Amino acid sequence: MDLTPQQLSQYNGTDPSKPIYVAIKGVIYDVTTGKSFYGPGGAYAMFAGKDASRALAKMSKNEEDVTPNLDGLDEKQIGVLNDWVQKFQAKYPVVGRAGLSFNFYATSCPAAEFMVSNTVRSASSADPTIPGKLLRLLFHDCFVEGCDASVLLQGNGTERSDPANTSVGGFSVIDSAKRVLEIFCPGTVSCADIIALAARDAVAIAGGPEIAIPTGRRDGKVSSALNVRPNIVDTSFTMDEMLKLFNSKGLSLDDLVTLSGAHTIGVAHCNAFSDRFGQNSKGKLTLIDKSLDTSYAEELMKKCPAGVSSSTTVNNDPATSFAFDNQYYSNLLAHKGLFQSDSVLLEDGRTRKQVEAFANDQESFFRSWGESFLKLTTIEVKTDDEGEIRRSCSFATN
Ligand code: HEM
Repeated sequence: MDLTPQQLSQYNGTDPSKPIYVAIKGVIYDVTTGKSFYGPGGAYAMFAGKDASRALAKMSKNEEDVTPNLDGLDEKQIGVLNDWVQKFQAKYPVVGRAGLSFNFYATSCPAAEFMVSNTVRSASSADPTIPGKLLRLLFHDCFVEGCDASVLLQGNGTERSDPANTSVGGFSVIDSAKRVLEIFCPGTVSCADIIALAARDAVAIAGGPEIAIPTGRRDGKVSSALNVRPNIVDTSFTMDEMLKLFNSKGLSLDDLVTLSGAHTIGVAHCNAFSDRFGQNSKGKLTLIDKSLDTSYAEELMKKCPAGVSSSTTVNNDPATSFAFDNQYYSNLLAHKGLFQSDSVLLEDGRTRKQVEAFANDQESFFRSWGESFLKLTTIEVKTDDEGEIRRSCSFATN
């Protein structure tokens, strides 16, 4: 069940014939058994019928903190919030998701999803590198300030201007979809939803699973390059570093293994994995990362010799480059993970089994993908009266 904030507010305990709901991080719990706390007159009555994430993180009962907005919370507060999630999970049944809803545009713009998928389909048939670009664009949007299209904003010092986003692409496809949507449904469909839908469609177009995702995200107004580095995973990260960052976004170790499967499509610039090679006295590249298969390493060094142009790319998945399938995991088993952060998934005892399972069973990868993708696309979303619906995806409206 998906409830908009307005629908959720009806489950605030004032109608005794209805259950009482509290949402945390977009997940709705039935807390009726805790009526003495959350019911009328209870110490936590102000949380009932609302997403109380910020208030719980701050241990605050102030009305203005009873929102899903996590902006500016520190690591300790996020930790407190995650403890609450665990407590609620152990104590109360989950009944749905708050904020977003499936088919959010059913009445306001019924053809919205169709228009996005049409745009992605025609762009991808003209340029097969588009699906990879759109999928990475989503990752970089959602990990920095949540899935709010902050990565699209242009200007000095925005996320988009950060070097970590230099090789991110797909912007023109989002702009095209937005242009069409502004003609048919002006001021209605957010850029954040377009990014999520476009990435979802990109996966399906490349042969991956077809997934329904909820919509209703609103566009953020904050976009700072300073937020990029601390929130984007670098290929040199250890497993613990990656896990810490994923956990801070509400994603688990399983989600990390599953979402890394995105590297079954798309490309990488030579400098993205050059740390796996060194140079001998004659300036020739040599393999220094012994976890890489030697013939694959030879191939990579041939494609990316010393002094190669900065625009040269190789396919992330050398075997089935444009197909969204489970080949990525077979590549890992064959020690052909392109980035060090890919190879780590095989080397670490905590994730190896999952890699083997996905390599052997595409269906189970696709099933997990559906779940993890849903989590990725709902990270810290803005809904209701937060943010805005931009008219142009590249610039905040006001
Ligand atoms: C787990 C940590 C991750 C690291 C360290 C990482 C790193 C990278 C790097 C360095 C590139 C190459 C960029 C370039 O040189 O152009 C890349 C490409 C890509 N990444 Fe990741 N990534 C990670 C996770 C993810 C996730 C979670 C997704 C999406 C769900 C994703 C989707 C992609 C896609 C689709 C490409 C290809 C982009 C293109 O074709 O333009 N990655 N990644």
